[in-house]
Amino acid sequence: VKITFVDNSGASQIVDAQPGVSLMRAAVDNGVNGISADCGGACACATCQVYVADEWFAKTGAPAEDEQAMLGFTNSVRGNSRLSCQITLTAALDGMVVTTPEQQT
Ligand code: FES
Repeated sequence: VKITFVDNSGASQIVDAQPGVSLMRAAVDNGVNGISADCGGACACATCQVYVADEWFAKTGAPAEDEQAMLGFTNSVRGNSRLSCQITLTAALDGMVVTTPEQQT
């Protein structure tokens, strides 16, 4: 599953990850800029936030209630925000593009 991460400066990095891992894990394992994931994937820190490109947002789905609540603690939440630790990669997400918020650089 290939995912493109774009940081706030516009620099991009393509990561190739196995299906079944979280988007956060794929980012951290590949040293992606802007994903610090302080809580280790427990949906409790919101430092793994990404903006999912519009054409992919329907495929990842909207955030669950606890995820939405956590995103609400950030001042960078947008309509297409997700916590990357709450997205499990599948073949259907191959080619997805996500952007990391300015606050996480
Ligand atoms: Fe902490 Fe995702 S890693 S909320």
